[in-house]
Amino acid sequence: MKRITKLQKALVLAVGTVAAAAAVAGQALAASPDAQPPTDMSPQVVGGTRAAQGEFPWMVRLSMGCGGAMYSESLVLTAAHCVNSTGNNTGITATYGVVDLQDSSRVTRTSKYVYRNPGYSTSAGGDWALIQLSSPITGAALLPIATSTAYDSGTFSIAGWGAASEGGAQQRYLLKAQVPFVSDSSCKSAYPSLKSAVEICAGYTQGGTDTCQGDSGGPMFRRDNANNWVQVGIVSYGQGCARPNYPGVYAEVSALSSAIAAKASELGGTPPTTTTPPTTTTNPPSGRTFENTNDVQIPDAGAAITSDIAVSGISGNAPATLKVDVNIVHTYRGDLLIDLVAPDGSTYRLKNSSTSDSADNVVATYTVNASTEVANGTWKLKVQDTYRQDTGYINSWKLTF
Ligand code: ARG
Repeated sequence: MKRITKLQKALVLAVGTVAAAAAVAGQALAASPDAQPPTDMSPQVVGGTRAAQGEFPWMVRLSMGCGGAMYSESLVLTAAHCVNSTGNNTGITATYGVVDLQDSSRVTRTSKYVYRNPGYSTSAGGDWALIQLSSPITGAALLPIATSTAYDSGTFSIAGWGAASEGGAQQRYLLKAQVPFVSDSSCKSAYPSLKSAVEICAGYTQGGTDTCQGDSGGPMFRRDNANNWVQVGIVSYGQGCARPNYPGVYAEVSALSSAIAAKASELGGTPPTTTTPPTTTTNPPSGRTFENTNDVQIPDAGAAITSDIAVSGISGNAPATLKVDVNIVHTYRGDLLIDLVAPDGSTYRLKNSSTSDSADNVVATYTVNASTEVANGTWKLKVQDTYRQDTGYINSWKLTF
Protein backbone atom coordinates (compact mmCIF):
# COMPACT_ATOMS: atom_id res chain seq x y z
CA MET A 1 0.00 0.00 0.00
CA LYS A 2 1.29 3.39 -0.93
CA ARG A 3 1.64 5.87 1.83
CA ILE A 4 0.05 9.20 0.92
CA THR A 5 2.03 12.38 1.06
CA LYS A 6 1.26 15.40 3.20
CA LEU A 7 0.04 17.25 0.08
CA GLN A 8 -2.33 14.47 -0.90
CA LYS A 9 -3.52 14.39 2.68
CA ALA A 10 -4.19 18.12 2.64
CA LEU A 11 -6.33 17.78 -0.50
CA VAL A 12 -8.36 14.98 1.02
CA LEU A 13 -8.87 17.07 4.12
CA ALA A 14 -9.92 20.19 2.21
CA VAL A 15 -12.66 18.31 0.33
CA GLY A 16 -13.75 16.57 3.50
CA THR A 17 -13.97 19.83 5.39
CA VAL A 18 -16.31 21.47 2.88
CA ALA A 19 -18.57 18.43 3.01
CA ALA A 20 -18.50 18.41 6.79
CA ALA A 21 -19.28 22.13 7.02
CA ALA A 22 -22.24 21.65 4.68
CA ALA A 23 -23.48 18.77 6.80
CA VAL A 24 -23.26 20.84 9.96
CA ALA A 25 -25.08 23.77 8.37
CA GLY A 26 -27.85 21.48 7.16
CA GLN A 27 -28.20 20.01 10.59
CA ALA A 28 -28.39 23.43 12.24
CA LEU A 29 -31.15 24.52 9.87
CA ALA A 30 -33.06 21.32 10.37
CA ALA A 31 -32.75 21.72 14.11
CA SER A 32 -33.78 25.37 14.27
CA PRO A 33 -37.53 24.86 14.81
CA ASP A 34 -36.67 23.21 18.13
CA ALA A 35 -34.10 25.77 19.17
CA GLN A 36 -34.85 28.51 21.66
CA PRO A 37 -36.68 31.51 20.31
CA PRO A 38 -34.00 34.05 19.39
CA THR A 39 -34.81 37.22 21.30
CA ASP A 40 -37.68 36.67 23.67
CA MET A 41 -39.53 39.88 24.42
CA SER A 42 -39.90 39.11 28.13
CA PRO A 43 -36.87 38.94 30.35
CA GLN A 44 -36.48 35.67 32.19
CA VAL A 45 -35.94 34.67 35.92
CA VAL A 46 -35.38 38.40 35.57
CA GLY A 47 -32.80 39.02 32.93
CA GLY A 48 -32.18 35.34 32.18
CA THR A 49 -32.73 32.73 29.52
CA ARG A 50 -34.39 29.35 29.19
CA ALA A 51 -32.58 26.46 30.85
CA ALA A 52 -32.01 23.36 28.75
CA GLN A 53 -33.76 20.13 29.64
CA GLY A 54 -31.46 18.32 32.05
CA GLU A 55 -29.19 21.30 32.64
CA PHE A 56 -30.15 21.63 36.31
CA PRO A 57 -31.68 18.21 36.85
CA TRP A 58 -32.21 18.56 40.60
CA MET A 59 -34.51 21.61 40.24
CA VAL A 60 -37.96 21.17 41.70
CA ARG A 61 -41.11 23.25 41.37
CA LEU A 62 -43.36 23.23 44.40
CA SER A 63 -47.11 23.67 44.03
CA MET A 64 -47.37 26.55 46.52
CA GLY A 65 -45.36 28.56 44.01
CA CYS A 66 -41.81 28.04 45.17
CA GLY A 67 -38.67 26.36 43.94
CA GLY A 68 -36.53 23.74 45.60
CA ALA A 69 -33.61 21.42 45.03
CA MET A 70 -33.38 17.66 45.48
CA TYR A 71 -31.28 17.09 48.59
CA SER A 72 -31.86 13.35 48.67
CA GLU A 73 -34.18 11.07 46.75
CA SER A 74 -36.94 11.84 49.25
CA LEU A 75 -36.11 15.36 50.49
CA VAL A 76 -36.46 18.71 48.80
CA LEU A 77 -34.57 21.67 50.26
CA THR A 78 -36.58 24.88 50.03
CA ALA A 79 -37.18 28.09 51.96
CA ALA A 80 -38.88 28.25 55.37
CA HIS A 81 -41.01 31.14 54.13
CA CYS A 82 -42.45 28.82 51.48
CA VAL A 83 -44.08 26.55 54.07
CA ASN A 84 -46.39 27.23 56.99
CA SER A 85 -45.20 24.95 59.72
CA THR A 86 -43.50 21.74 60.71
CA GLY A 87 -45.63 18.61 60.62
CA ASN A 88 -47.38 16.09 58.46
CA ASN A 89 -48.44 17.73 55.26
CA THR A 90 -49.84 16.05 52.17
CA GLY A 91 -50.76 19.29 50.48
CA ILE A 92 -47.66 20.08 48.44
CA THR A 93 -46.87 18.67 45.01
CA ALA A 94 -43.26 18.58 43.86
CA THR A 95 -42.57 18.50 40.13
CA TYR A 96 -39.21 17.12 39.07
CA GLY A 97 -37.34 16.23 35.90
CA VAL A 98 -38.59 18.80 33.42
CA VAL A 99 -37.92 22.39 32.43
CA ASP A 100 -41.45 22.60 31.00
CA LEU A 101 -43.92 22.18 33.84
CA GLN A 102 -46.46 20.85 31.33
CA ASP A 103 -44.11 18.22 29.91
CA SER A 104 -45.88 14.87 30.20
CA SER A 105 -42.61 13.25 31.23
CA ARG A 106 -42.57 15.24 34.46
CA VAL A 107 -42.21 13.33 37.71
CA THR A 108 -44.45 14.38 40.57
CA ARG A 109 -44.67 13.47 44.23
CA THR A 110 -46.87 14.75 47.00
CA SER A 111 -45.37 15.79 50.29
CA LYS A 112 -45.85 13.74 53.43
CA TYR A 113 -43.98 15.82 56.00
CA VAL A 114 -42.58 19.33 56.20
CA TYR A 115 -39.79 20.50 58.46
CA ARG A 116 -39.58 24.27 58.77
CA ASN A 117 -36.44 25.60 60.45
CA PRO A 118 -37.84 26.44 63.91
CA GLY A 119 -35.27 29.20 64.30
CA TYR A 120 -36.44 30.98 61.17
CA SER A 121 -37.97 34.42 61.34
CA THR A 122 -37.57 37.47 59.18
CA SER A 123 -35.53 39.03 61.97
CA ALA A 124 -33.27 36.00 62.54
CA GLY A 125 -32.96 34.60 59.02
CA GLY A 126 -32.29 30.90 58.51
CA ASP A 127 -34.75 30.61 55.65
CA TRP A 128 -34.72 26.86 55.02
CA ALA A 129 -37.11 23.94 55.16
CA LEU A 130 -37.13 20.32 54.09
CA ILE A 131 -40.04 18.68 52.36
CA GLN A 132 -40.22 14.93 52.65
CA LEU A 133 -41.83 13.30 49.64
CA SER A 134 -44.48 10.59 49.85
CA SER A 135 -42.04 8.25 48.11
CA PRO A 136 -38.50 8.74 46.92
CA ILE A 137 -37.70 9.77 43.36
CA THR A 138 -35.37 6.89 42.74
CA GLY A 139 -32.27 7.87 40.87
CA ALA A 140 -33.03 11.57 41.13
CA ALA A 141 -30.18 14.00 40.54
CA LEU A 142 -29.12 15.56 43.82
CA LEU A 143 -27.59 18.96 44.49
CA PRO A 144 -24.95 18.81 47.24
CA ILE A 145 -24.96 21.71 49.68
CA ALA A 146 -21.90 23.78 50.51
CA THR A 147 -20.52 22.77 53.89
CA SER A 148 -17.92 25.52 54.15
CA THR A 149 -17.68 29.15 53.09
CA ALA A 150 -15.20 28.15 50.36
CA TYR A 151 -17.77 28.71 47.61
CA ASP A 152 -19.41 31.83 49.05
CA SER A 153 -17.93 34.04 46.35
CA GLY A 154 -17.60 34.33 42.62
CA THR A 155 -20.40 34.01 40.10
CA PHE A 156 -23.53 32.13 40.98
CA SER A 157 -26.24 30.56 38.91
CA ILE A 158 -29.91 31.01 39.74
CA ALA A 159 -32.89 29.25 38.24
CA GLY A 160 -36.60 29.11 38.75
CA TRP A 161 -40.13 29.27 37.37
CA GLY A 162 -40.86 32.53 39.18
CA ALA A 163 -41.71 35.90 37.73
CA ALA A 164 -39.61 37.12 34.81
CA SER A 165 -40.11 40.72 35.87
CA GLU A 166 -41.16 42.44 39.04
CA GLY A 167 -44.88 41.85 39.43
CA GLY A 168 -44.87 39.50 36.42
CA ALA A 169 -46.40 36.09 35.89
CA GLN A 170 -45.04 32.73 36.95
CA GLN A 171 -43.26 30.89 34.16
CA ARG A 172 -43.99 27.62 32.42
CA TYR A 173 -40.35 27.09 31.42
CA LEU A 174 -37.41 27.05 33.80
CA LEU A 175 -35.33 30.21 33.49
CA LYS A 176 -31.73 30.69 34.48
CA ALA A 177 -29.26 33.51 34.93
CA GLN A 178 -25.96 34.30 36.55
CA VAL A 179 -25.33 36.83 39.27
CA PRO A 180 -22.13 37.93 40.99
CA PHE A 181 -21.54 37.65 44.72
CA VAL A 182 -22.14 40.84 46.68
CA SER A 183 -20.21 41.32 49.91
CA ASP A 184 -22.06 41.56 53.21
CA SER A 185 -20.85 45.12 53.76
CA SER A 186 -22.06 46.27 50.38
CA CYS A 187 -25.33 44.34 50.73
CA LYS A 188 -25.94 46.06 54.06
CA SER A 189 -26.24 49.41 52.34
CA ALA A 190 -29.31 48.02 50.61
CA TYR A 191 -30.55 45.96 53.53
CA PRO A 192 -29.34 47.44 56.86
CA SER A 193 -30.89 44.54 58.77
CA LEU A 194 -29.11 41.87 56.70
CA LYS A 195 -28.33 38.81 58.81
CA SER A 196 -24.89 38.47 57.34
CA ALA A 197 -24.03 35.32 59.31
CA VAL A 198 -26.81 33.38 57.61
CA GLU A 199 -27.54 35.42 54.50
CA ILE A 200 -25.57 35.93 51.31
CA CYS A 201 -26.31 38.44 48.57
CA ALA A 202 -25.89 38.36 44.81
CA GLY A 203 -26.71 40.66 41.94
CA TYR A 204 -25.43 43.46 39.74
CA THR A 205 -25.11 47.03 40.99
CA GLN A 206 -27.05 48.12 37.93
CA GLY A 207 -29.75 45.49 38.54
CA GLY A 208 -31.38 43.75 35.61
CA THR A 209 -30.79 40.16 36.66
CA ASP A 210 -32.29 38.56 39.75
CA THR A 211 -34.53 35.96 41.20
CA CYS A 212 -38.08 37.11 41.78
CA GLN A 213 -41.41 36.11 43.30
CA GLY A 214 -41.91 32.38 42.85
CA ASP A 215 -38.22 31.59 42.72
CA SER A 216 -38.09 31.44 46.50
CA GLY A 217 -36.82 28.22 47.95
CA GLY A 218 -34.89 27.45 44.81
CA PRO A 219 -31.14 27.09 44.85
CA MET A 220 -28.38 29.53 44.08
CA PHE A 221 -25.44 27.40 43.03
CA ARG A 222 -22.04 27.31 41.35
CA ARG A 223 -19.35 24.88 40.27
CA ASP A 224 -17.09 23.51 42.96
CA ASN A 225 -13.41 22.76 42.68
CA ALA A 226 -14.16 19.44 41.00
CA ASN A 227 -16.52 21.17 38.55
CA ASN A 228 -19.63 19.76 40.22
CA TRP A 229 -22.60 21.92 41.12
CA VAL A 230 -22.84 22.92 44.76
CA GLN A 231 -25.66 24.84 46.40
CA VAL A 232 -24.57 28.04 48.14
CA GLY A 233 -27.90 29.78 48.63
CA ILE A 234 -31.66 29.48 48.93
CA VAL A 235 -33.73 32.22 47.30
CA SER A 236 -35.11 34.27 50.17
CA TYR A 237 -36.01 37.91 49.56
CA GLY A 238 -35.23 41.21 47.89
CA GLN A 239 -36.54 44.71 47.46
CA GLY A 240 -38.58 44.28 44.30
CA CYS A 241 -36.69 42.31 41.67
CA ALA A 242 -33.56 43.20 39.75
CA ARG A 243 -33.60 46.78 40.91
CA PRO A 244 -30.32 48.70 40.81
CA ASN A 245 -28.51 48.62 44.17
CA TYR A 246 -30.84 45.94 45.56
CA PRO A 247 -29.23 42.54 45.20
CA GLY A 248 -31.14 39.36 45.89
CA VAL A 249 -30.79 37.93 49.38
CA TYR A 250 -30.28 34.19 49.81
CA ALA A 251 -30.09 31.95 52.86
CA GLU A 252 -26.39 31.18 53.24
CA VAL A 253 -26.30 27.42 52.90
CA SER A 254 -22.77 26.97 54.25
CA ALA A 255 -23.83 28.49 57.57
CA LEU A 256 -26.93 26.33 57.77
CA SER A 257 -25.54 23.11 56.33
CA SER A 258 -24.97 21.22 59.55
CA ALA A 259 -28.51 21.86 60.76
CA ILE A 260 -29.88 20.90 57.35
CA ALA A 261 -27.79 17.73 57.21
CA ALA A 262 -28.71 16.74 60.76
CA LYS A 263 -32.42 17.12 60.13
CA ALA A 264 -32.19 15.40 56.78
CA SER A 265 -30.51 12.40 58.29
CA GLU A 266 -33.26 12.21 60.93
CA LEU A 267 -35.79 12.25 58.13
CA GLY A 268 -33.99 9.40 56.48
CA GLY A 269 -32.58 11.33 53.57
CA THR A 270 -29.19 10.21 52.37
CA PRO A 271 -27.29 13.29 51.34
CA PRO A 272 -25.03 13.23 48.33
CA THR A 273 -21.34 13.00 49.03
CA THR A 274 -20.00 16.39 49.98
CA THR A 275 -17.57 18.24 47.84
CA THR A 276 -13.95 19.18 48.39
CA PRO A 277 -13.16 22.86 48.94
CA PRO A 278 -10.92 24.65 46.46
CA THR A 279 -7.27 23.99 47.09
CA THR A 280 -4.11 24.44 45.15
CA THR A 281 -1.88 22.20 47.22
CA THR A 282 -3.57 18.89 47.91
CA ASN A 283 -5.02 16.44 45.47
CA PRO A 284 -8.67 15.52 45.77
CA PRO A 285 -9.32 11.88 46.76
CA SER A 286 -10.29 11.02 43.21
CA GLY A 287 -9.24 12.50 39.94
CA ARG A 288 -5.62 12.33 41.07
CA THR A 289 -3.16 12.86 38.30
CA PHE A 290 0.38 11.68 37.71
CA GLU A 291 2.44 13.19 34.94
CA ASN A 292 5.78 12.68 33.26
CA THR A 293 7.00 15.72 31.35
CA ASN A 294 10.44 14.37 30.45
CA ASP A 295 11.00 14.26 26.69
CA VAL A 296 11.77 10.82 25.27
CA GLN A 297 13.03 10.62 21.70
CA ILE A 298 11.24 8.05 19.51
CA PRO A 299 13.74 6.36 17.17
CA ASP A 300 12.73 6.47 13.50
CA ALA A 301 11.35 3.09 12.39
CA GLY A 302 13.00 1.64 15.47
CA ALA A 303 12.29 -0.34 18.60
CA ALA A 304 9.55 0.70 21.00
CA ILE A 305 10.56 3.10 23.74
CA THR A 306 8.79 3.70 27.05
CA SER A 307 8.23 6.51 29.49
CA ASP A 308 7.41 5.69 33.11
CA ILE A 309 4.99 7.08 35.63
CA ALA A 310 5.20 5.84 39.20
CA VAL A 311 1.79 5.81 40.86
CA SER A 312 1.40 5.60 44.63
CA GLY A 313 -1.10 6.42 47.31
CA ILE A 314 -4.15 5.03 45.54
CA SER A 315 -5.85 2.11 47.23
CA GLY A 316 -7.25 -0.71 45.19
CA ASN A 317 -7.63 -0.88 41.48
CA ALA A 318 -7.47 1.71 38.75
CA PRO A 319 -10.83 3.03 37.53
CA ALA A 320 -12.82 1.78 34.57
CA THR A 321 -12.28 5.27 33.18
CA LEU A 322 -8.56 5.72 33.61
CA LYS A 323 -7.68 8.80 31.59
CA VAL A 324 -4.45 8.79 29.66
CA ASP A 325 -3.44 12.16 28.23
CA VAL A 326 -0.79 11.78 25.58
CA ASN A 327 1.24 14.60 24.07
CA ILE A 328 3.67 13.46 21.39
CA VAL A 329 5.43 15.76 18.99
CA HIS A 330 5.87 14.01 15.65
CA THR A 331 5.83 14.93 11.96
CA TYR A 332 3.63 11.99 10.84
CA ARG A 333 1.51 10.57 13.62
CA GLY A 334 0.26 7.66 11.52
CA ASP A 335 3.69 6.14 12.07
CA LEU A 336 3.02 5.72 15.76
CA LEU A 337 1.80 2.69 17.65
CA ILE A 338 0.96 3.60 21.25
CA ASP A 339 0.23 1.33 24.21
CA LEU A 340 -0.36 1.80 27.90
CA VAL A 341 1.40 -0.82 30.01
CA ALA A 342 0.01 -1.48 33.48
CA PRO A 343 2.32 -2.23 36.44
CA ASP A 344 1.80 -5.98 35.95
CA GLY A 345 2.74 -5.76 32.27
CA SER A 346 -0.79 -5.89 30.82
CA THR A 347 -0.91 -3.87 27.65
CA TYR A 348 -3.72 -1.63 26.45
CA ARG A 349 -3.61 -0.40 22.88
CA LEU A 350 -4.26 3.34 22.76
CA LYS A 351 -3.57 3.95 19.10
CA ASN A 352 -2.77 1.88 16.05
CA SER A 353 -0.44 3.00 13.32
CA SER A 354 -1.96 4.13 10.05
CA THR A 355 -0.27 4.82 6.76
CA SER A 356 -2.77 7.51 5.89
CA ASP A 357 -2.82 9.72 8.99
CA SER A 358 -0.14 12.20 8.04
CA ALA A 359 -1.09 14.86 10.54
CA ASP A 360 1.45 16.14 13.04
CA ASN A 361 1.49 15.22 16.72
CA VAL A 362 -0.63 13.11 18.99
CA VAL A 363 -2.50 15.27 21.45
CA ALA A 364 -5.21 13.03 22.77
CA THR A 365 -6.97 11.77 25.84
CA TYR A 366 -7.67 8.06 25.89
CA THR A 367 -9.99 6.39 28.36
CA VAL A 368 -8.93 2.93 29.40
CA ASN A 369 -10.94 0.40 31.36
CA ALA A 370 -8.18 -0.44 33.81
CA SER A 371 -10.47 -1.71 36.55
CA THR A 372 -8.69 -5.06 36.75
CA GLU A 373 -5.33 -3.36 37.33
CA VAL A 374 -3.88 -2.43 40.69
CA ALA A 375 -3.41 1.33 40.60
CA ASN A 376 -0.11 1.62 42.47
CA GLY A 377 3.09 0.78 40.62
CA THR A 378 4.92 1.82 37.51
CA TRP A 379 2.82 2.51 34.44
CA LYS A 380 4.47 2.86 31.07
CA LEU A 381 3.60 4.63 27.88
CA LYS A 382 5.05 2.49 25.09
CA VAL A 383 5.56 4.15 21.72
CA GLN A 384 6.95 2.71 18.52
CA ASP A 385 7.59 4.50 15.24
CA THR A 386 6.75 1.91 12.59
CA TYR A 387 7.77 3.71 9.43
CA ARG A 388 10.88 5.36 8.05
CA GLN A 389 11.32 9.09 7.65
CA ASP A 390 9.27 11.16 10.10
CA THR A 391 10.40 11.44 13.72
CA GLY A 392 9.45 12.88 17.05
CA TYR A 393 9.39 12.52 20.80
CA ILE A 394 7.10 11.99 23.78
CA ASN A 395 6.56 15.49 25.12
CA SER A 396 4.51 14.56 28.18
CA TRP A 397 1.85 12.14 29.32
CA LYS A 398 -0.46 11.97 32.25
CA LEU A 399 -2.64 9.49 34.09
CA THR A 400 -5.83 10.58 35.82
CA PHE A 401 -7.31 8.07 38.26
N1 ARG B 1 -39.60 36.09 48.44
C1 ARG B 1 -39.69 35.77 47.06
C2 ARG B 1 -40.51 34.52 46.82
O1 ARG B 1 -41.26 34.14 47.67
C3 ARG B 1 -38.36 35.69 46.42
C4 ARG B 1 -37.85 37.02 46.22
C5 ARG B 1 -36.49 37.06 45.67
N2 ARG B 1 -36.32 38.41 45.31
C6 ARG B 1 -35.22 38.93 44.82
N3 ARG B 1 -35.22 40.17 44.48
N4 ARG B 1 -34.16 38.18 44.64
O2 ARG B 1 -40.54 33.96 45.74
